Amino acid sequence: MLIIENQNYEAMSKKAAEHIIERVKQNPFLNLGLATGGTPQRMYEYLVEDYRKNGSDYQNVKCYNLDEYVGVSKDNKNSYYHYMKKNLYGHINIKEENTFIPNGMAKCLEHECREYEEKLTLSGGIDLQILGIGENGHIGFNEPGTPFNASTHIVQLDSSTRKANSRYFSTVEEVPTHAITMGLHSIMKSKEILLLVSGENKAEAFKQLTSGKITTDFPASILQNHKNVKVMECLGLNE
Ligand code: F6R
Repeated sequence: MLIIENQNYEAMSKKAAEHIIERVKQNPFLNLGLATGGTPQRMYEYLVEDYRKNGSDYQNVKCYNLDEYVGVSKDNKNSYYHYMKKNLYGHINIKEENTFIPNGMAKCLEHECREYEEKLTLSGGIDLQILGIGENGHIGFNEPGTPFNASTHIVQLDSSTRKANSRYFSTVEEVPTHAITMGLHSIMKSKEILLLVSGENKAEAFKQLTSGKITTDFPASILQNHKNVKVMECLGLNE
């Protein structure tokens, strides 16, 4: 695990964006795995700025998102589909048919999970996976207790996760109780992983991620077994 320290959120976001841009340049057919949430937001802004200035080309890039809430439709402003459109897909030349997000409104969620996992496999695998991390060690929405061999599945969100994400909703009760997430096994198959950690509230998670015991109680700890993980952190300052 390579730890890359950054002075602040700005510097971390820029470096992460530059890393993605570099990989897209090296491989125009990149399979890119993406996360949502607060942490990668500035990184996406940098990608959009770069696209406008330098015309980085995404027409053959395929993007696979980690997760989506169950019961939240695409046009709902809290869906991750909406998040991705607003923060990235709506601003670069990626083809709609090359963007993949689990469908949390699927009639049969189990079938949706199987199909999503199949899509990942058929793609040849994720070349570069971007991750954030929850204070409880979740990656994607793999909450504590998730088996390390899990593929894409339905998860019941922890109350701490719902509370953390309630900042985007009017009340915590409005936060969905379930989500579809790529599993830990799906994530571990990625050829390269770039995990972003930002903010003092993530300091403990960072410690457990990088030097804690490998345990399903702290799902992200499994990344210690991956051969190509970079952790970009800015734990002190958030501005
Ligand atoms: C979301 C995801 C989650 C977030 C995590 C941290 O797609 O994969 O694991 O990365 O909940 O969220 P923020 O960045 O909002 O602290």
